[in-house]
Amino acid sequence: SLLVLLVGAAQSGPGAPSRYTPDWPSLDSRPLPAWFDEAKFGVFVHWGVFSVPAWGSEWFWWHWQGEGLPAYQLFMRDNYPPGFSYGDFGPQFTARFFHPHEWAQLFQAAGAKYVVFTTKHHEGFTNWPSPVSWNWNSKDVGPHRDLVGELGAALRKRNIRYGLYHSLLEWFHPLYLLDKKNNFKTQHFVSSKTMPELYDLVNSYKPDLIWSDGEWECPYTYWNSTYFLSWLYNDSPVKDEVVVNDRWGKNCSCHHGGYYNCQDKFVPGSLPDHKWEMCTSLDKGSWGYRRDMNVADVLSESEVISELVQTVSLGGNYLLNVGPTKDGLIAPIFQERLLAVGKWLQVSGEAIYASRPWRVQREKNETSVWYTSKDSTVYAIFLQWPEHEVLYLKSPITTSTTRVTMLGLKEDLKWSKDPNEGLHISLPQLPSSALPVKFAWTVKLAGVG
Ligand SMILES: *[C@@H]1O[C@H](CO)[C@@H](O)[C@H](O)[C@H]1NC(C)=O
Ligand SMILES: *[C@@H]1O[C@H](CO)[C@@H](O)[C@H](O)[C@H]1NC(C)=O
Ligand SMILES: *[C@@H]1O[C@H](CO)[C@@H](O)[C@H](O)[C@H]1NC(C)=O
Repeated sequence: SLLVLLVGAAQSGPGAPSRYTPDWPSLDSRPLPAWFDEAKFGVFVHWGVFSVPAWGSEWFWWHWQGEGLPAYQLFMRDNYPPGFSYGDFGPQFTARFFHPHEWAQLFQAAGAKYVVFTTKHHEGFTNWPSPVSWNWNSKDVGPHRDLVGELGAALRKRNIRYGLYHSLLEWFHPLYLLDKKNNFKTQHFVSSKTMPELYDLVNSYKPDLIWSDGEWECPYTYWNSTYFLSWLYNDSPVKDEVVVNDRWGKNCSCHHGGYYNCQDKFVPGSLPDHKWEMCTSLDKGSWGYRRDMNVADVLSESEVISELVQTVSLGGNYLLNVGPTKDGLIAPIFQERLLAVGKWLQVSGEAIYASRPWRVQREKNETSVWYTSKDSTVYAIFLQWPEHEVLYLKSPITTSTTRVTMLGLKEDLKWSKDPNEGLHISLPQLPSSALPVKFAWTVKLAGVG
């Protein structure tokens, strides 16, 4: 009707259609809500029934009974009674010491602007009382709590954006297996499980972000993704602020959706022309908590901060994962790493949050100097302290108004123009304990081209 057309036209921004249609050209034209690019740093949380065996990885069930890997058969034989099923782990997922406000406080201290939480991994167990996941959800079994709802409430008290991870596929769901047997020509699983759950999650928890996964076996037409996304963007309660990733069907990743994840732990070689996010895990071997993690498996403080810097310099967001225990505890080594990022961001956040890629991302012939920018200010973040306390930056073009400071220190730094290109900056002659951060120091350049 004319009224609908007029209302639609009044709401549309420049370049945005008044209604999105369920196809990729239309959906891909939606501008990404600004909060996501400004946020830069988020925490990912993988928690579910896989946190009970807590061995190998969150793919425990698949490795054990999908692939039948001998190590997993032996693990079960040696540690559990005969006939013990994966479902028997459910009641042991107690979440006994899960205090969502403590998690939220930790994530805030880490400097995270958003948190992405597993509402349901490929095992199918829902961390909220899903009406279509009978006896395989956190209200009926295990915690007897609405984990998704409780964490969301705690995060929002601290103004942290809330993202929901959701796996489209479920390894062993009978209806999914039936559709698979039919070469995905039928959609029993999608119409009775996936779609009802996605709509329920959006309506019940009003997420700021949907982190879709488990898409890879079937085309987006099977998943009905474009219909869901057009509803999400046009009519859902979060239509203006919600952000989604790119895992909505086979071959969508890195091509369609909102921002791009491409693969897990993706690192582009140069500045991508589309907003992206690098997701990685503090435990290099797993996303879910595993008891067999060693200290050498954990990313070091300097590795985490270097990855964050490089990711932001290349226009990405950095999503860093922790896996809590079945009781709802976050291991002290993960807490320590998160707090280290937070401490670094307290000094260096000016160069990270709401920054933009500069015209140069990585200094020429250097792997350890990365740039970001904000309006006319340029930030050079250097990962190694240079010899003789002199930092040589080739790319900035100095002017009569050039000023150089270091984030966390008050005094201006002395500098001199290089006869060929760039400038030499005299770094402060301080013992390392007196420097504002332990590594990844930032010089702030005003009045450079
Ligand atoms: C796909 O979405 C459309 C629009 O909401 C709906 O009419 C259709 O039934 C959905 N198909 C499945 C399999 O869920
Ligand atoms: C889709 O992805 C598969 C593997 O993931 C690849 O072999 C195939 O060529 C891709 N198809 C298109 C049309 O890109
Ligand atoms: C920097 O890299 C360029 C291109 O690879 C090379 O020609 C040049 O010699 C390098 N300069 C230095 C100082 O290493």
